Amino acid sequence: MKKIIFATGNQGKMKEIREILADLDAEVLSLKDAGIEADIVEDGTSFEENAQIKAKAICELTGEIVLADDSGLEIDYLNKEPGIYSARYMGEDTSYRIKNASLIKRLEGVADEQRTARFVCAIAAAFPDGTVKTVRGAMEGRIGYEEKGENGFGYDPIFYLPEYGCTSAELSMEEKNKISHRGKALRAIKDELR
Ligand code: IMP
Repeated sequence: MKKIIFATGNQGKMKEIREILADLDAEVLSLKDAGIEADIVEDGTSFEENAQIKAKAICELTGEIVLADDSGLEIDYLNKEPGIYSARYMGEDTSYRIKNASLIKRLEGVADEQRTARFVCAIAAAFPDGTVKTVRGAMEGRIGYEEKGENGFGYDPIFYLPEYGCTSAELSMEEKNKISHRGKALRAIKDELR
């Protein structure tokens, strides 16, 4: 059976990844499962570059097929901030209550049609022969006027989905996976792995 390492330490993500890649006939391991401890500096200038840096580094270390992702929130009115700095926005340890309140404040007085935003997820697959394939998934929405919903994480409570009439924090995990940036990118990279 083919072995694939997904370069994440996040167990929640691993569950979602294993579910979506289940029909690939491959054993999907997290970094921990593969016994790897690595601290890779994500100094790329795009989601794609950061995913490629991680995937290539672990592939060179292990000689296995390695997948890595990088994701974040782009707000059009703020020149696509926080973007690749989504986790680091206002400091890594600052609560999302505070981060979300800050973004809402920065959009004060901004009309609905100018509040467009998207969650983006890039996934890179690095192969032992040196090839790298990269895909991108996005989920389009708008920044709301207040936090709503208890599900999800991070910026979900302020990410309003007009077609659903709720935020992504008000969707169940299953509903979100069907339409999310990460779900779309995972399904696209699966096609590259076949
Ligand atoms: P990562 O690259 O998947 O670790 O995500 C980077 C950051 O982007 C997270 O720490 C969140 O701030 C934000 N983010 C990515 N995906 C989501 C999502 O589905 N909901 C809310 N925030 C997200």
